[in-house]
Amino acid sequence: MLKLLLFLIKLFPLLLRLKFASAVQREERITEIGVFLVKNLVKLGPAFIKLGQVLATRHDIIGSNLGSILSQLEDNLPQANFEKVSKLLDLEIPQERLIEIEYIDKKAVAAASIAQVHKARLKDGTQIALKFLRPGICIEFHKNLQTLRTISKLYILIFKSAKKLGFEEIMPKIESIAATELDMRLEAAAADKLRENCKNDKFVYIPKVYWRYTKKSILALEWVDGLSLKDKDGISKLGISFEEVTKRLAITFFNQAFRDGFFHADLHKGNIFINQRGQIVLVDFGIVESLADRDRMFVAQIIDAFVSRDYCRVANMYFKAGYIPQDQSRYKFELACRSIGESIFDAPVSQISISELLQQLLTLTRTFSMPTQAQLLMLQKTMVTVEGVGYFLYHDVNMWYLIRPWIKDWAKKNLSYKCRVIRILKHIAAL
Ligand SMILES: Nc1ncnc2c1ncn2[C@@H]1O[C@H](COP(=O)(O)OP(=O)(O)O)[C@@H](O)[C@H]1O
Ligand SMILES: [Mg+2]
Repeated sequence: MLKLLLFLIKLFPLLLRLKFASAVQREERITEIGVFLVKNLVKLGPAFIKLGQVLATRHDIIGSNLGSILSQLEDNLPQANFEKVSKLLDLEIPQERLIEIEYIDKKAVAAASIAQVHKARLKDGTQIALKFLRPGICIEFHKNLQTLRTISKLYILIFKSAKKLGFEEIMPKIESIAATELDMRLEAAAADKLRENCKNDKFVYIPKVYWRYTKKSILALEWVDGLSLKDKDGISKLGISFEEVTKRLAITFFNQAFRDGFFHADLHKGNIFINQRGQIVLVDFGIVESLADRDRMFVAQIIDAFVSRDYCRVANMYFKAGYIPQDQSRYKFELACRSIGESIFDAPVSQISISELLQQLLTLTRTFSMPTQAQLLMLQKTMVTVEGVGYFLYHDVNMWYLIRPWIKDWAKKNLSYKCRVIRILKHIAAL
């Protein structure tokens, strides 16, 4: 409580400086607040770190400057005492199975606010990764959550604009992330589903879940021998070009989001590896998102209409889908879309960002009273991250442009009138 009080005391003058800043000073003041939050949220506890991470994805609420500063929030902490961690094994795994785990490295390969990962070996020589929840994390997280709920209610009560901006959606998001991240069986299930969906894709590999050793606080996964995408030097020695790696990453994401409608929604460099076979390997399945048929077709058609610069079609689709209320002006919406589209597409191909397009569109639709679609936000946020990784690896080319044969092929199969009719018929048959 004392830590929180100190935090608020330090934050308050920064907020005041922002309130009374001139238009020129505004961005500078926002940066000040962002830097302060990145430094201090970590000290407040795991739910506050989550708050920062969730806010970082909501550029539509907090603006892109603060959003990108918050995305630098580091989630590295000293590892929890191994004796306490290994007690979880004794508590949750029956003895006859536990003896199958021959060796566990006491030093974690990574430790964050919610979990830490240790390398281990089974009796038959198989190497696995054991991801443990930090001991006591559930209690700490829920205590944090209570405090956050109170702050959030107060904030919304005092600042009327907070409601309109969508701050009310933040707490439920944190709570739903907490529910998944605090139960390793759910992370395991997500890994399993992704693995099944991708089993015939040659460019991607999802490690296998060892269900025998997976429990509420423990996730057992096949050990990944690969290079992190952070390691550009290492990758350059693998004999695969950065262009190819970027392409494989884009295909992986595209297939998950648009083909399967179920995607890994935390695709930053630390969670992506490349193995000796040149496959993209993903870890960390705590944040996944699903997209209903209707949503992925909608997004694909919107992007298609934007790329064709047919803004009338964009506006019609939004109104027809009922996303934008009928009392809003269709022609004003069309004009706003034109201004977004023309400013984005009037750039060299390498600089055109589809995630930027979606971002601006989400902000625009909010001003036209469209209720937030959380899954679309996650899609947009994941695209930002994927584009960022692509840019880091190979910044001379647009990653979506690299995979346009895939996109075209998918669109031909899914967006033609014939396919739409078949889908509608299937839908009716399923009712
Ligand atoms: N199956 C695995 N094989 C090898 N290393 C892994 C595996 N799973 C996780 N790691 C390592 O542990 C780190 C943290 O794991 P991750 O699941 O991303 O946890 P967090 O949710 O804390 O980010 C990863 O960045 C990776 O370096
Ligand atoms: Mg991770």
